[in-house]
Amino acid sequence: MEPLISVKDLNKTFTTPGGALRVLKDITFDVPRGEMVALMGPSGVGKSTLLHILGTLDKPSSGNVFYEGQDVFALKEDALCLFRSRSVGYVFQFHHLLPEFNTLENAMMPALISGTNRDEAVKRASQILSGVGLSGRLTHKPGELSGGEQQRVAVARALMLDPKVVLADEPTGNLDTQTGEELFQLLKDLNKKGTTFIIVTHNETLAAGCGRIIRMRDGMIIA
Ligand SMILES: Nc1ncnc2c1ncn2[C@@H]1O[C@H](COP(=O)(O)OP(=O)(O)O)[C@@H](O)[C@H]1O
Ligand SMILES: [Mg+2]
Repeated sequence: MEPLISVKDLNKTFTTPGGALRVLKDITFDVPRGEMVALMGPSGVGKSTLLHILGTLDKPSSGNVFYEGQDVFALKEDALCLFRSRSVGYVFQFHHLLPEFNTLENAMMPALISGTNRDEAVKRASQILSGVGLSGRLTHKPGELSGGEQQRVAVARALMLDPKVVLADEPTGNLDTQTGEELFQLLKDLNKKGTTFIIVTHNETLAAGCGRIIRMRDGMIIA
């Protein structure tokens, strides 16, 4: 069967005052639908850069990213924008929630931005928030939530438009060990229900719970 994501000969070079910085070197791999992939490697190896390109937040210098056979960087700008907002969910190390808005509003933000009817957005956000154990925190603002709760709101927000894949960049990096394990368990449960995940983590124990580990070294995949 066709993989959900297919990365072919991906290269990324940044132009810096100190010269060209070659960060990703001939990266090739597939992610089947429904998989939970851990992406590991030392700091500075290019994990976030790769995730940004997979999410089309940045463009590769050469190479291709296919989603269900569609070369996404061949899309015109407006189609690419639509793809980015509909098909990919993000969870970052720092939750990036909007401090003035409550849990429900933060989670439903992608739906409101994409023009979903407000009642429908409220309904879906409430369902997802209940699924991540936050039905008792709907009217809390981020500053009134624990770190683990804030990150669960970020997960709910990422799931709002039912993306093809959730890209998570060190989602537990800012949490204590136990809260990190709980968040990871939540991601695993969501994966069992069908969401595909690519998760950057430095935690070998958590990564071992994923279906597959992709290891990077010097801008390349080594295993
Ligand atoms: N926009 C940019 N311009 C120049 N260099 C960058 C840029 N983004 C990242 N880099 C460099 O690319 C390398 C990989 O960064 P990154 O992907 O963030 O690594 P990781 O997430 O694996 O720690 C680093 O050396 C970083 O300094
Ligand atoms: Mg990073």
